[in-house]
Amino acid sequence: MGRVHAEAARRAGASVVAAVASTPEGADRAARTVGAERGYPDLDALLAEAGVDVVHVCTPNARHAEAVRAALAAGAHVICEKPLAVDGVEAASLADAAVAAGRVATVPFVYRFHPMVRELRSRLADGQAGAVSTVSGGYLQDWLSRPTDDDWRVDPVVGGPSRAFADIGSHWCDLVEFVTGDRIHRLSAQTTTVHARPSSRPTEDAAVVQFATEAGVLGTLVVSQVAAGRKNRLHVEVSGTEASYAFDQEDPERLWVGGRGGNQVLVRDPQTLSPAAARYARLPAGHAQGYQDCFDAFVADTYRAVLDEDRPDGLPTFADGLRTVRITEAVLRSAAAAGEWTEVDR
Ligand SMILES: NC(=O)c1ccc[n+]([C@@H]2O[C@H](COP(=O)([O-])OP(=O)(O)OC[C@H]3O[C@@H](n4cnc5c(N)ncnc54)[C@H](O)[C@@H]3O)[C@@H](O)[C@H]2O)c1
Repeated sequence: MGRVHAEAARRAGASVVAAVASTPEGADRAARTVGAERGYPDLDALLAEAGVDVVHVCTPNARHAEAVRAALAAGAHVICEKPLAVDGVEAASLADAAVAAGRVATVPFVYRFHPMVRELRSRLADGQAGAVSTVSGGYLQDWLSRPTDDDWRVDPVVGGPSRAFADIGSHWCDLVEFVTGDRIHRLSAQTTTVHARPSSRPTEDAAVVQFATEAGVLGTLVVSQVAAGRKNRLHVEVSGTEASYAFDQEDPERLWVGGRGGNQVLVRDPQTLSPAAARYARLPAGHAQGYQDCFDAFVADTYRAVLDEDRPDGLPTFADGLRTVRITEAVLRSAAAAGEWTEVDR
């Protein structure tokens, strides 16, 4: 992700001045990889000498907290990858530290930055769905579908106690709460570990979650990293009495709109989108925008907040990062209690 962040930083007009790696020996290679001016042996040296305004934390999950704390203590603004931390206590302390430091602190829930997601959010806020009754969908991947597939995420010491849900379920929950303006209140979850991988404590390959929101909307969610053929299928369907909407991250230029009198597929066209969505349409209709564009928009909005130009609507902050960590904890709690209904901590 370091490369994706660095590219977005450059496109937002920043200079990528410094990088660190997991070892002092890797400093120069890390700098070359992300196109930074210089590599530093460790974060303390970088913070003492490089004079940075913003630190992007793109390390494995269990390493986020130490880097965030050091960056805030040095007066930097921070973009920290999701999951913000590997447990709620740590995530809450990072959110508090960011507020106490008075720094901008954001988490790349970048799917919020698809124009068609903004269109969906705007239509729901306008009440065009009528009464929303259910939300469904999931996030399916296949890159861990073989028993030999491996990654640091598989090790709970580095990745945290939740794997599939923390890694990708967090994106889905953030997106659903963002577009509906409603929050997941209580849930019942089951998890499964398909492959016995070499690990101190196996983490879930997949999870199925049933939930109710604060407004009483019911929902279901399937998350898997062992679903052959699915790469990044994050899909959401919001069903209302007047209109229903479906968005698929792998086909992000379109929004399906369902109605009793007929269905439509809206295409991303800055000339017909709502102003909130058109703001994120960088290209004319028909020239596809995608994931890096979302990342660019997220980083540009974060930097706008850093420069005090404005506080762009929909910027995902550490409070949102904490929120998804709390949902993840509720999922693990419920799954450990055979799917018992559990409230998400506030
Ligand atoms: N927002 C998104 O869409 C998105 C997508 C993918 C990954 N992520 C998140 O980004 C983070 C990184 O994931 P990734 O897929 O890029 O992993 P990765 O393994 O590809 O990269 C992690 C990098 O961190 C380096 N590193 C490890 N410890 C370090 C330390 N103490 N100091 C400096 N560097 C260190 C490693 O050498 C490696 O280069 C994770 O938290 C992941 O959840 C977010």
